Amino acid sequence: MNLDALKRNPERDLGGAGPLKSDEVNLRDRIRILHGLTEEHIDDVVRLYDLAFRQKLALAIPRTEDRLALFRKTFSRSSCIRAELSDRIIGVVGYQLNAESFTGGLTGDGVSWRALREQMGLNRAIRAFIVFTLFRRSVPSNTLLLDGIAVKESHRNQGIGSRLLESAVAFAAEKGFEKVRLNVIGTNHRAKALYERKGFVVRATRYFLYLHWLFGFSKSYEMHCDLPPTGGTGDRQPKTENHGQAR
Ligand SMILES: CC(C)(COP(=O)(O)OP(=O)(O)OC[C@H]1O[C@@H](n2cnc3c(N)ncnc32)[C@H](O)[C@@H]1OP(=O)(O)O)[C@@H](O)C(=O)NCCC(=O)NCCS
Repeated sequence: MNLDALKRNPERDLGGAGPLKSDEVNLRDRIRILHGLTEEHIDDVVRLYDLAFRQKLALAIPRTEDRLALFRKTFSRSSCIRAELSDRIIGVVGYQLNAESFTGGLTGDGVSWRALREQMGLNRAIRAFIVFTLFRRSVPSNTLLLDGIAVKESHRNQGIGSRLLESAVAFAAEKGFEKVRLNVIGTNHRAKALYERKGFVVRATRYFLYLHWLFGFSKSYEMHCDLPPTGGTGDRQPKTENHGQAR
């Protein structure tokens, strides 16, 4: 991955998937990789995120209408990178920066409980809170935590996931982070292979043996990508430990 080139122009076509036919070139040129979301994007993003992570999220929040309402209310509009085609969102990667994370309003401290309770009532909110707590992780301050990457099903296998991942890594380098970290469940072999191709290695495995019946998977991998020292802008928050959500 050429970090210098990405830092100069994070929205450029990242290539790397061999020769392309002209239709594919045209499509790739029309897909833009950009930071953040506006209110017009939010419905696309919550649906995309829900479809991609339903298996896990439905454990915490079983009703689709609750999930969508909560995501709409709590997802950070700034802590993500989006893939856009003709003003529609076709991919997103969330991250955590300066104690704010893409899904942090839902899964972090404080706001989360209030939002869950308002939407779901006390009993369902308790269940959701417990499930989210099981997946929470602390993150050292030198590490950018990715908070879920998803590409619309109709647009997968076109290199968009790769471009989002590469842009997130370049963004981390620019901000002066030393590592990028993400979590992937043990059954998501394809996503894990994609991360490995992009330079991530498994640094820890977490087992959920007793909870396999509940989650549908028995382990998750913590994967790291070490970044070369670049002297980035350093405007990440350096002192505190952050908390984030495993995907
Ligand atoms: C994981 C995910 C984000 C990958 O997105 P994607 O856009 O399909 O990823 P890419 O296209 O960059 O790479 C995937 C495959 O396409 C291939 N590819 C890359 N560029 C390509 C191109 N231009 N044309 C055709 N294939 C291409 C890659 O080699 C890779 O091969 P594989 O089939 O062996 O995995 C997507 O599958 C997804 O949203 N899954 C559901 C959510 C999820 O599991 N997220 C990960 C949680 S940790």
